Amino acid sequence: MTSIGIFFGTDSGTTRLIAKKIARSLVARIGEHVVAKPVNINRVDVNRLLQHDALILGTPTYGKGVLPGRDSRNTESSWLEFLPQLADADFSGKRIALYGLGDQEEYPDHFADAIRDLHDAFTARGATPVGGCDIDGYEFNCSRAVIDGRFIGLVLDQHLQHLLTDERIERWLDEIVPALTGETAGRQQANG
Ligand SMILES: Cc1cc2nc3c(=O)[nH]c(=O)nc-3n(C[C@H](O)[C@H](O)[C@H](O)COP(=O)(O)O)c2cc1C
Repeated sequence: MTSIGIFFGTDSGTTRLIAKKIARSLVARIGEHVVAKPVNINRVDVNRLLQHDALILGTPTYGKGVLPGRDSRNTESSWLEFLPQLADADFSGKRIALYGLGDQEEYPDHFADAIRDLHDAFTARGATPVGGCDIDGYEFNCSRAVIDGRFIGLVLDQHLQHLLTDERIERWLDEIVPALTGETAGRQQANG
């Protein structure tokens, strides 16, 4: 049975709250035996991530377009300190879905940039990214999180658009759950 791990970085705690929301909705959809409790990335090593078949990875953006961590002047270590551990890791066959928090009003030129760094780091080690979200409904100038006109993960702005968050999470889960659990592949195989 598929096991889904949820790991997040944070400084002021919002990305943790979103991880809990995502976990609650996932458990309601597919059951608690499939979904592990969300964990702060600064509490684990890479082997903990490799225990799962699929991962949901969350991050805010700090600096101007940088992952959280001490070099981004955060109080705790986070993704910046974790990522070097990926150097010898093999994520082939693992599916990853990304979510990112940002502030499009204050940082319109670097909106939610940091999920791109997670995307590039994990796909370079063989992971397969799933899911994204449309850029309609957001207002920003530039974001490295956009590839081919779409965000590469779920992007949330708790400062300007917190009222849209629950709906955005549910729409994103509609898209990623079949991909994370392998339901799509199974169905295609069965049909093919
Ligand atoms: C010093 C600082 C720098 C930030 N830089 C960016 C940025 O470059 N791009 C962006 O979209 N949001 C930026 N933000 C907004 C945060 O990503 C946002 O507040 C997020 O919700 C924080 O998540 P957390 O509570 O999990 O740490 C910045 C916030 C602060 C305080």
